[in-house]
Amino acid sequence: MFPGAIDVLPATYLDQLGTIFARFTTQDSGNFSYGVQTAAARYFVKTAGDPADTRPYLDFDGRVALLRTAAELARSLTHHTLPVLHAVIESAAGPLLVYDWRDGDLLHEPAARERFRALPTAEILAALDALYELHAALDAAGWVEGDFYDGALIYDFEERRLTVMDLDTYHRGPHRNTMCRMFGSERFMAPEQHALGAPIDTRTTAYVMARTAQVLLPEPPPAHQSVLLEATTTRFSNYQAFYEAWLTASSTTADSVASRET
Ligand SMILES: Nc1ncnc2c1ncn2[C@@H]1O[C@H](COP(=O)(O)OP(=O)(O)O)[C@@H](O)[C@H]1O
Ligand SMILES: [Mg+2]
Repeated sequence: MFPGAIDVLPATYLDQLGTIFARFTTQDSGNFSYGVQTAAARYFVKTAGDPADTRPYLDFDGRVALLRTAAELARSLTHHTLPVLHAVIESAAGPLLVYDWRDGDLLHEPAARERFRALPTAEILAALDALYELHAALDAAGWVEGDFYDGALIYDFEERRLTVMDLDTYHRGPHRNTMCRMFGSERFMAPEQHALGAPIDTRTTAYVMARTAQVLLPEPPPAHQSVLLEATTTRFSNYQAFYEAWLTASSTTADSVASRET
């Protein structure tokens, strides 16, 4: 149903495809994205924005490169938290990535974040379990966290469904910090993401995921609390070790959380 390439501007094509009901054009990424309603479905279509726009940190080629990474990531695994990537359409303005539209609120918005943090502990744990299961699959496929923060999370409060998006700056394989302070949101970043030359790898992913729980879960059960503490102090040697410790904490706590909240 989607062409391999178009010879008009992305917005022109999308106007023909259906109705554009949302535009995301003010992001400092330089990317332009669209919500598009067709007869069949709603889609989230991401593009690298105006090729002539050099104001963003990344120039057009750099923005296109990140979209290629995003497409590679989407094709390397499927998970219920990830919007399905239906097509990559080539154009003079770079690729159009056509994803499923996902409903919900961006957890980077303060009101949504506070609403999420006020949910019952068991519901927050269920969302974190989904996020961590996704990262176990990403880690197994060789992906290392990059620039993850709550702006990559959409939560549908009615359906209790977590969506994870904008993983464009994830990196396949371990690498080294070449920037000193890397891109990222301070509250989520690992120490090595502030140290020139430091290895950025599966340990980094474990740290950032643990920080995510510390930001989003105000009252961790004691078993989870100690896993998060270890993950952010003495550290786990890889993501899998963190994930297994988290699962063990969940299985030993599930009953007591349920009995406290019912
Ligand atoms: N699949 C999706 N469905 C619905 N909204 C989405 C989807 N993916 C992203 N969004 C929304 O679009 C915004 C911009 O997308 P994002 O991937 O973060 O682009 P950027 O690279 O410009 O930061 C996000 O902040 C989020 O609100
Ligand atoms: Mg974003």
